[in-house]
Amino acid sequence: MKAIRIHHFGGPDVLSYEDVPDPVPHEGEWLVRVRAVGVNPVDTYVRSGTYGAAIATPYIPGTEISGEVLDGPAAGRRVFCLGTTGPRHTGCYAELVTVKPTDAYELPAHLSFEQGAAVPVAYATAYRGLFERGGLQPGQTVLIHGASGGVGSAAVQLAAAAGAIVLGTASSDAGREQVRLDGASAVFDHKSPDYMHEIARHTASRGVDLILEMLASTNLDRDLDLLAHAGRIVVVGSRGKIEIDPRKTMARETSITGVMLWSGGDASLRRAFAAIEAGLANRSLRPVVGDVFDLKDAALAHQRVMQDASRGKVVLRV
Ligand SMILES: NC(=O)c1ccc[n+]([C@@H]2O[C@H](COP(=O)([O-])OP(=O)(O)OC[C@H]3O[C@@H](n4cnc5c(N)ncnc54)[C@H](OP(=O)(O)O)[C@@H]3O)[C@@H](O)[C@H]2O)c1
Repeated sequence: MKAIRIHHFGGPDVLSYEDVPDPVPHEGEWLVRVRAVGVNPVDTYVRSGTYGAAIATPYIPGTEISGEVLDGPAAGRRVFCLGTTGPRHTGCYAELVTVKPTDAYELPAHLSFEQGAAVPVAYATAYRGLFERGGLQPGQTVLIHGASGGVGSAAVQLAAAAGAIVLGTASSDAGREQVRLDGASAVFDHKSPDYMHEIARHTASRGVDLILEMLASTNLDRDLDLLAHAGRIVVVGSRGKIEIDPRKTMARETSITGVMLWSGGDASLRRAFAAIEAGLANRSLRPVVGDVFDLKDAALAHQRVMQDASRGKVVLRV
């Protein structure tokens, strides 16, 4: 089969489009013909060699796919899958993958394969961040700080469907328009100098109950000014260090926590995907596909996913 392989860590140019042996499923595993692959920022961190997890080279990158099951009783089923049977963060930039049936979910007929590939990482991270780590309740106000990308778009839809009042941020007109379509009642520009004050004014200075934060290394200290009493910040993404004033947590008894997709264990992922499957089926969740690249152009996708002006998920078409 054709696949992207990485022989040594480095820039996007180390993504090499090659012939590699087909993966062979073990008993109980499924062979899936990949139709689309979700591209995540973490794929670029792993590729550059700066990510914590030790991955042996050469490896095929990628964490999520959509496609068709090729053999066994499930043959022909359209599925989206989180992970392969290989090491985490590997195996998906390829024409074929092997998966455990428990990591594969039904892709509804009304959704494209590109939309299916946009689901697993973004929606499960957003779900766990909003509800399991963030404790979001209907009627509460949530700020999705970085709402235009993969996780942000999923979070806006999930929070709106759960009956929260959703505020979002994005840096481009197209991104802000998408955030509105996803269900935010107000959208702000995180590149504008005064936007945090605008958000405070919008909440009549009461603040927000929850912030889902995509870039804590830039925003965490100012986020603390924006919380209501007992408000929470859930850190989803951060790209460096930041100094914060811990005193800001005291008067309003606020808290900061983090979320990592995989860290809640299998039971948490099952809960997340049960809710996601229901939301896809009732169409309250509508995965947003942004830029689509051919598998062989994975280097372009890696450049795009690290640029601003996001609008939904970056996807590879296989
Ligand atoms: N914890 C986990 O398990 C987990 C899982 C998935 C992803 N992540 C991390 O979460 C982050 C988002 O992932 P993604 O897949 O959604 O990436 P993405 O699709 O590339 O989106 C990035 C988002 O960050 C926004 N952003 C840029 N500058 C910002 C700022 N100053 N303040 C607030 N937001 C800003 C972007 O908005 P504009 O483009 O409109 O400027 C965009 O909405 C990444 O850092 C990723 O590594 C973590």
